[in-house]
Amino acid sequence: IVENKIDSLLSIMTLKEKIGQLVLYNGSWDVTGPPSDVGNKEKYEKLKNGEVGAMLNVTSVSGARELQSLVMDHSRLKIPLLFGYDVIHGFKTIFPIPLGESASWDIEAIEKSSSIAAKEATASGINWAFGPMVDISRDARWGRIMEGAGEDPFLGSKIAVARIQGFQGNDLSDNKTLAACAKHFAAYGFAEGGRDYNTVSIGEYELYNTVLPPFKATAKAGVATMMSAFNEVDGIPATGHKKLQREILKKDWNWDGFIVSDWASIAEMIYHGYAKDKIHAAERAIIAGNDMDMEGRAYEAGLEKLVKEGKVDEKLIDDAVKRILKVKLDLGLFDDPFKYCDETREKKDIYTKENLEFSRNVAKKSIVLLKNDKDILPLKKDIQSIAVIGPLADDKDTPIGSWRGMATANSAVSLLEGIKAKVDKNVKVSHAQGVKLGKDERNFIKELAINREDTSGITEAVDIAKSAGLVVLAIGEEAFQSGEARSQADIELTIPQQKLFEAIYEVNKNIVVVLMNGRPMAITHVAEKAPAIVEAWHLGSESGNAIADVLFGDYNPSGKLPVSFPRSVGQVPIYYNAKNTGRPSNPEGLVFWSHYTDEKNEPLFPFGHGLSYTTFDYKDLKISSSSFSSGGNINVSITVTNTGKRKGKEVVQLYIRDLIGSLTRPVKELKGFELIELEPGKSKTVSFIINEETIQFYTVNRKWEAEPGEFKVFIGGSSNTLLETGFSFEK
Ligand code: IFM
Repeated sequence: IVENKIDSLLSIMTLKEKIGQLVLYNGSWDVTGPPSDVGNKEKYEKLKNGEVGAMLNVTSVSGARELQSLVMDHSRLKIPLLFGYDVIHGFKTIFPIPLGESASWDIEAIEKSSSIAAKEATASGINWAFGPMVDISRDARWGRIMEGAGEDPFLGSKIAVARIQGFQGNDLSDNKTLAACAKHFAAYGFAEGGRDYNTVSIGEYELYNTVLPPFKATAKAGVATMMSAFNEVDGIPATGHKKLQREILKKDWNWDGFIVSDWASIAEMIYHGYAKDKIHAAERAIIAGNDMDMEGRAYEAGLEKLVKEGKVDEKLIDDAVKRILKVKLDLGLFDDPFKYCDETREKKDIYTKENLEFSRNVAKKSIVLLKNDKDILPLKKDIQSIAVIGPLADDKDTPIGSWRGMATANSAVSLLEGIKAKVDKNVKVSHAQGVKLGKDERNFIKELAINREDTSGITEAVDIAKSAGLVVLAIGEEAFQSGEARSQADIELTIPQQKLFEAIYEVNKNIVVVLMNGRPMAITHVAEKAPAIVEAWHLGSESGNAIADVLFGDYNPSGKLPVSFPRSVGQVPIYYNAKNTGRPSNPEGLVFWSHYTDEKNEPLFPFGHGLSYTTFDYKDLKISSSSFSSGGNINVSITVTNTGKRKGKEVVQLYIRDLIGSLTRPVKELKGFELIELEPGKSKTVSFIINEETIQFYTVNRKWEAEPGEFKVFIGGSSNTLLETGFSFEK
């Protein structure tokens, strides 16, 4: 029926109407890219003529209703619009930034936060989310690392699918779910030097084995749309990359959704030096398989002419239109174009108590306890006095983070508020900002150097630190230091923050550092001295409450890093699943091995690391057989015991190493994990199945296959603390 409906509609569409479906316009002043040259009046006319297929950044029922009505009342074919928006970590109720939420390794919670975000967005007229971002990144300098699931393709794939499931649910036509968009296809996270939009030179094998798996997983999970990337991949802009889009995605993976360009990325192929003008850019993009043009004006400028001149086969346009119409049909827009325009829902479904409660729930699960010497944490609620210091201690805006949807500025619970709400009434809570972080304003360049030199507030901070039993020091990064176009060459704390730490440490060694940040930070000097460090990312609306839950032990921290934390920026890119190299060590004590002469090879905190207020013991690593062959499998199990005094959660992680391959293989690869919860003294045996699929990779034969040979298996609570066994595989 769907096919028939699409074909019959297509058969009556003029070329202009078809091209109209491929056009996506920005609908508000809130630009998420360089503003275009088409004014509202012209847009209205085009909407009426059926020359627009979708709008973005229209964020209210009244706005969506107005524009949808233009199409319904005036256009010949009345093909409903899609309304897209960057629903990245919440709509109005804000959840942890995606990198932070990924640290929960809690797939159910991640799916649920996306489904809440979908419910809020659809109550505001939106039916298409530009998320999730599934780009793997190993570069802490890249501002958009905050938007992904970190450095690992296995974890990244599981999280990507959970987010798709949360957004799309089981039924796209339900008006509380929306079409998702896996982005950015592909390799956007591999920009040279971590500088946004920059060149990507990536080999075929790295592309297939590291970058593409999350996209493939979302394609398999039925993601409705994908977004092409701004960057070039080995000389060809991703937007015009035929091999990526038409061959891999649409042919090899047999994916039937549609590809939207990124903001103006079709036209930007001119700047890349890959197209001479918009018409040429349109030609390259449509041939490559890019179906919709976001704010690029290239398709509307060029496609009609290109078809008429025989440079573009109309069949390519038909294919793009069909894909877009299918999503509209699946959403049920043809039955009711106004199904997301419900003022009652807009009032009732957004920023609810339940949604905020869930935000707090997922936020506390996302916190990673990086260090806790002498069990300084958890704190007692009747602690005599506590000094809450730092530029982020009473900041109600930073925890909302970048890509914050429709969040109200300054609406998060600050750490100071969270702590005050938690402690007993007679506890003395003092506060000083100490130093400031420069504020970056959305979409305008304001150097963060502002306030970077100002250390005048340190004296006041030191005074209150002196007399307090304990200092909670909230430092890190301001909200817009990460996100799109927020790459940084320096990933350390600002100098005033470092000075603040040192000055406080001089007078009070009981410091709990609460780090709020959108990227892994090189906090090596602070990490050496501070007895406790709590990684609190930008945790969203309920940030302060969630952090207080962890600081005072109402929640036993269970987060694990989804990304390695470098010791210094010079180590970047640093990631656990690296190759061994030909010179991995220096048995003779000679200098000739792969290392830095002035820095360790190891990260400050490795992938998978995260402490708890209890301890877990791993023992009895068992493997059901020392080998298996095609079609078979083996079972690996481990017994985990809670050896501490509190109930706690642990992420049990399974890694493998393929010892010899047709291509060199990483020293470790995550291949399974399970989040378990144990009462003190209790044990659980966790099992993983290893089969052919577990050990497959994109081999020298240019296909996904398992190669015979020897493998190591590691299980533990982090990528660097692991018990080991092994097996072999025969074809
Ligand atoms: O969805 C985003 C994309 O990730 C970056 N450029 C702008 C798009 C729309 O806002």
